[in-house]
Amino acid sequence: MRDSIMTIRKDLGSRLAILAHHYQPDAVVRHADILGDSLELARQIDGLGAEHIVFCGVHFMAETAAILARPEQKVHIPDPGASCVMANMVPTLLVEAVMTALTRTGAKIIPLTYVNSSAAVKAVCGRHGGSVCTSANAPTMLRWALDQGDGVLFLPDANLGRNTARNLGLGPHTMRMLDIRGQGRFVEPADPSVQLYLWPGLCAVHAKFHPEQITSVRRSDPEASILVHPECSPEVVELADGAGSTSYLIRRVNQAPSGSAIYVGTEWNLVNRLAGQHPDKVILPLVKALCSNMAKITEAGLFATLQRLHTARPVRVDETVTAPARLALERMLHVCR
Ligand code: 13P
Ligand code: SF4
Repeated sequence: MRDSIMTIRKDLGSRLAILAHHYQPDAVVRHADILGDSLELARQIDGLGAEHIVFCGVHFMAETAAILARPEQKVHIPDPGASCVMANMVPTLLVEAVMTALTRTGAKIIPLTYVNSSAAVKAVCGRHGGSVCTSANAPTMLRWALDQGDGVLFLPDANLGRNTARNLGLGPHTMRMLDIRGQGRFVEPADPSVQLYLWPGLCAVHAKFHPEQITSVRRSDPEASILVHPECSPEVVELADGAGSTSYLIRRVNQAPSGSAIYVGTEWNLVNRLAGQHPDKVILPLVKALCSNMAKITEAGLFATLQRLHTARPVRVDETVTAPARLALERMLHVCR
């Protein structure tokens, strides 16, 4: 399988680019031209000359690449069914209804969506003067959004929203968790004392990390460091020694001195790879948490995609959605140049 993929890559040369997210398994990562976190991967699209971009990650990532790619470029994903549980927690029509309710009395509310969301949700943000953030630039983008209006609607990850707001010094009384039941009928018009409205979404993988696991590691291994992804709850982030994007976690492990023990609270494929890359350090998962959607991308699936590259239907984004979604993404890329 590996050799067959290498042969196809050699034949296609610069006409093909394979991008992979850090949560992909080693068998896929070894074929990647570019490996990165969500922000780094989105940033790379503009500079790619390849006619075919094969995106090894979940669907919103491939969709983001398709929005940012030039019209003649084709973006493929080995399994279009690799969706993100969190991205699915934010139906577009409901976001529209919530925006209508919040702005009923004329308040200017800026929607800011985590990149883990559909193109249609990004388009809503683009149309309402809002933007997109990733875990790597969330503080910069939340600061930017707060400066644009009277308040921010942060979608869909409430944990990332709360962790980022706390980083910026926002107190709990300035944040409100939205009650999105009943098609948004319980959402009141914006309250001037609230700066941040949180959508009640979360990542099922990062919800597996709990404060008790950290206290237990502190007891059994007091010298060890604990690093987590900001999709973990604020209670977990507060107890950890550091929190940040997948690239931040990698950087911290790379920089740790030989002999360090580090527990990492994020998706297992990344933690497992770090452990293999650092035999001089003890790198352990806080608990083994696998993203079953990321795992839908396999080496066999990548091979099948490469075999039918010229006939396969690429990732398509509705035309009415592409322009406003790109506007939202470009605002982010501009603010975080
Ligand atoms: P990063 O942007 O940190 O790579 O994270 C993406 C993701 O889906 C984490 O669950
Ligand atoms: Fe989505 Fe969580 Fe998987 Fe990341 S780890 S892709 S947020 S379900």
